[in-house]
Amino acid sequence: MGTVILGTGSYLPRKVMSNKDFEKIVETSDEWIRTRTGIHARHIAEGDEFVYKMAAYAAERALDAAGLSADAIDLLVVATISSHMSMPSSACFVQNEIGAKNAFAFDLNAACSGFLYSLDLADKYVQADPSKKILVIGAEALSSRLNWQDRNTCILFGDGAGAAVVGFAENRDGYRGAKLFSDGSLSELLYMHGPESTNSKLQVPGNCGVHIVMEGREVFKHAVRAMTGAVHRLLDEQQITMSDVSLVVPHQANVRILKKLQEKLAIPDEKLFCNVSQYGNTSAASIPIALDEAYREGRIENGNNILFCSFGGGFTWGATLLTW
Ligand code: ACO
Repeated sequence: MGTVILGTGSYLPRKVMSNKDFEKIVETSDEWIRTRTGIHARHIAEGDEFVYKMAAYAAERALDAAGLSADAIDLLVVATISSHMSMPSSACFVQNEIGAKNAFAFDLNAACSGFLYSLDLADKYVQADPSKKILVIGAEALSSRLNWQDRNTCILFGDGAGAAVVGFAENRDGYRGAKLFSDGSLSELLYMHGPESTNSKLQVPGNCGVHIVMEGREVFKHAVRAMTGAVHRLLDEQQITMSDVSLVVPHQANVRILKKLQEKLAIPDEKLFCNVSQYGNTSAASIPIALDEAYREGRIENGNNILFCSFGGGFTWGATLLTW
């Protein structure tokens, strides 16, 4: 018995942008992007595809899969760093959009690790009261937070949302545990300013707009080291090895990071889920989108050990184990 995922759902924006499309915007090439990142295309939100709209579509699909109506939800968490408003939260917009009138709702900012942090919160809430049902959503419109003249960053990211309904089951093991970490001392390697303050005394020096700034090489090294360490610590704690894991669903940042992880953790090809080529890096949305796809493709069965790992701005990182 334990905390389980009762249903998953996802949503990708209608517009698809290929690498070729970037050749018209910055000095780059399809070949450079493919070989350095493994990304071929990404979905880009437009029109009314705000974070909360995408999150609501994904949530409705997850509720459908779980066989629950929105008013059964007690808590609604949206992991995001790209809401269209700072206040109210995207979670409050989603609550209204889907009619989850019995839920309290808030956003969680842990960049690309947001879904794993939120899942851990959901587990603790369910463990405190097994009758509770929680919607955990990762949703991003990072295209609205990019410097479209910076070829180092604009080619990497995409938009979308993924959701999971979390509850309790007597007959499944479910959530086994997580190792979650943060290190604020390296924040200058990957960050995004807030909007400029209207109070000049509170102005942040060097605020150059609300977009992602990144030292790609450094982030790459830290990402590989941190995720590898988190997975080792989690597997040790759980007293299992990679051979006991059925599927690894990592944060989808780029294929070269995933290949390094695969090498260091000895993950066989068939156990690694990878969809970054079609979606780019969707930050907090990447793991729940990948999880939903993996499930719908029949790659997850009852009793399977599913391992997640993530790394993102903060830095934030971690690894999570779940027996489906
Ligand atoms: N097209 C063509 N050339 C480019 C592009 C581009 N889109 N972007 C950078 N370059 C150039 C650089 O300007 C540089 O040129 P120079 O040598 O004349 O200065 C050259 O390519 C090499 O640049 P590097 O940054 O050293 O290239 P690298 O091989 O490290 O690849 C990349 C860059 C893809 C960003 C890589 O460092 C990376 O993947 N880092 C991880 C970043 C990441 O995933 N961040 C997401 C958030 S954190 C997370 O989700 C894990």
